Amino acid sequence: MRWSRFLVLPAAKSQPDFLLSVPAGEDSLAHRRHVCARLIPQSRDSLVELLDIKEIFGRIAPLHVDLGCGDGSFLCALAQRMPDKNFLGIERLAGRIRSAARKAAGLGNVRLLRMETSYAARYLLPAEAVETFYLLFPDPWPKRRHHRRRIVTPDFLSSIHAAFRKNGIIYIATDHLDYFEKIKEVARSNPAFAVADLDIDLPPSRFALIFQQKGAPVHRLALRKVSPVQ
Ligand SMILES: C[S@@+](CC[C@H](N)C(=O)[O-])C[C@H]1O[C@@H](n2cnc3c(N)ncnc32)[C@H](O)[C@@H]1O
Repeated sequence: MRWSRFLVLPAAKSQPDFLLSVPAGEDSLAHRRHVCARLIPQSRDSLVELLDIKEIFGRIAPLHVDLGCGDGSFLCALAQRMPDKNFLGIERLAGRIRSAARKAAGLGNVRLLRMETSYAARYLLPAEAVETFYLLFPDPWPKRRHHRRRIVTPDFLSSIHAAFRKNGIIYIATDHLDYFEKIKEVARSNPAFAVADLDIDLPPSRFALIFQQKGAPVHRLALRKVSPVQ
């Protein structure tokens, strides 16, 4: 059986609907509902190849990546605002990917990848491909013994750095102060990033709205890739 290379759930009905893990010939709209059950095992060759961004989106445009995109509310709102940019949402939970796919159905510039963000950032995103990353409310793993499960680590920042275009920027938000302090510590220890201006009007994500309703403080940080001093 031939398998397409990557699950990418878009958008324009005139295009193939899936790129990841869909058996050839099963790319009809009826199949869309079941796509998440058809993911190929991660050991398959296709999961170690770099994403072909041009093929996935069918065009060349600045790439924005939402890491842990959840139900896709933020991703799709932003994609609607900026039709001239490509938006890739990465999320590991099938149910959330399905919700995001429903929201993205009418958007030609959105694709979704069901994957671990750290793996995708490190192994699947081509070098110098990404203009902007968003990491909004990453799971905080509050218990000390679970801290090693947190996404933001020195390795993660290095992966992001390699994937960034010149002057690329990552927007981070969390309600968890301890995690926020740790993120700042990791960022400070990497001279390839500088703190950037946060003066940007982004649509609220689902979790941003939840924390807003609770009146919980949200901590935000933007980091810019800086070029090494020559
Ligand atoms: C608290 S939710 C935030 C969702 C969304 N960013 C928002 O602000 O509404 C965290 C999301 O990240 C996803 N996630 C956590 N760790 C992940 C990982 N390692 N790889 C992919 N997704 C991950 C979770 O499944 C969840 O959907």
